[in-house]
Amino acid sequence: MTENISSLFGERDGYTGKILSGRYSASLKKKLFSSIAHFKALERIGAPVIPYIAAWRPDGGHIWYEYTGARLHELLGVHGPEVAGPLRDNILSRCLYRIQKNPPAVDKIIRDKAQIDRLRDAMRRMAERGGGVDAVYKFHVNGSPLWLKDLSKVEIHDRDLVVLSYGTLIDVTKEMQLEEALVEVKCELESHKENLELLVGERTRELKKAQLDVLTRLTQAAAFRDGGTGAHIKRLSQYCAVLGNACGLSKSANTVLFHAVPMHDVGKLGIADSILQKEGSLSQDEFEVIKTHCKVGSDLLSEGSSSLLQVAQTIALTHHERWDGSGYPLGLAERQIPLASRITSICDVFDALTSERPYKKAWGFDESVDEVCRMRKIYFDPKIVDLFLKNIQHIKKVYHVS
Ligand SMILES: [Fe+2]
Ligand SMILES: [Fe+2]
Repeated sequence: MTENISSLFGERDGYTGKILSGRYSASLKKKLFSSIAHFKALERIGAPVIPYIAAWRPDGGHIWYEYTGARLHELLGVHGPEVAGPLRDNILSRCLYRIQKNPPAVDKIIRDKAQIDRLRDAMRRMAERGGGVDAVYKFHVNGSPLWLKDLSKVEIHDRDLVVLSYGTLIDVTKEMQLEEALVEVKCELESHKENLELLVGERTRELKKAQLDVLTRLTQAAAFRDGGTGAHIKRLSQYCAVLGNACGLSKSANTVLFHAVPMHDVGKLGIADSILQKEGSLSQDEFEVIKTHCKVGSDLLSEGSSSLLQVAQTIALTHHERWDGSGYPLGLAERQIPLASRITSICDVFDALTSERPYKKAWGFDESVDEVCRMRKIYFDPKIVDLFLKNIQHIKKVYHVS
């Protein structure tokens, strides 16, 4: 057999295995010899596959290589028996690569020697059971990655207490690099998307804040012209939020109500100062002009795409409607009047009563509450008046703080 071996391998290759020169059966040696001869012939004709024959004892111990093709030595930059090292190490990379989503993370989790041994054993048993291996190995050669796809067939030789794996490797570095690049691009795109979403969220919040600032200034301008103050608007929002909550509005709907309510009188911007700031009582004609502030305000706020502007428009148009149908401009009654306006009208009147105006003194808290109750079912939704009373402590808090 020694003669046979030297006829099979050149000086440069040597023989790195144990079976052909060891105490194994003649039939196994014969089979191995012809397989190696076959593989060498494949290499000579320049087949693109890189053949190898791995061996191990079924009861444990290291893997060794009976044969590794010259092309593999070239690719890995090692010769003879040295080739076993990188192959053994990368069997593990292969295993981990298959269960990892992100291939570059592979090396970081290899720490424990016992764990490595267990994994190698498990893989060998898997190959024995499955009758072969279909996997991809990742190597690092001089700092560059090398990916080899492995297809092998496993044979168990019980009599000789050895398992042989006849494998062929194909260089798939280009394909795997492309796959890795795609994973990287995907990760980058995802993080870019996340950043973009954060940025859009931030800009949207800024824009909303800027819109609210503009609207607040606009409503304050309207309130000042009417002799009202910024404080009226602030309190009104807070009273309405108390009632909105009591009426069962969701948190977001109540927030919209809170910001929309200040715009109820924005239409007063369109009323002449001579009427708006007139001292003394208004003539019927002048009062008719004042009444137009509902429609003017509604027109000013129309065609808004946000729910804030839509609710604000509704309130501007219908905050002077009355429960008994005697209000203006539409003469709506009871539940025809939108809920937001039924809430606003109570709070608007209550705050007007408790505030000092050029033409009147401020009413006391209890007196104003009595007046609201008196207008229950006449001006105001009786159920909301009841909720107003039920939450009077919250209302009082706003009254005292603002
Ligand atoms: Fe009004
Ligand atoms: Fe008002």
